[in-house]
Amino acid sequence: MNVLREASPSSGVLRVRIDRGRCQGHARCVALAPELFEVDAFGDTRELGGGVVAGHLLEKVELAVANCPELALAIVRERA
Ligand code: F3S
Repeated sequence: MNVLREASPSSGVLRVRIDRGRCQGHARCVALAPELFEVDAFGDTRELGGGVVAGHLLEKVELAVANCPELALAIVRERA
């Protein structure tokens, strides 16, 4: 998923989103990118910091997306 690397940092804000309908709590995302995800007190995984992906975390978010067995993660770009 090299789309992220091709994007200019000035072309918007990247966010990672968890599709709650798909997520089954495997927590691979938390293990691979603890800067971006956490398991809350109810055992649900959620995005940290509103899901904003800082530039230095692009590789980690790509890894998390690629390793979610439920395909529950998506990266969206919001216009600045
Ligand atoms: Fe859910 Fe996938 Fe993470 S199933 S807990 S989004 S690895």
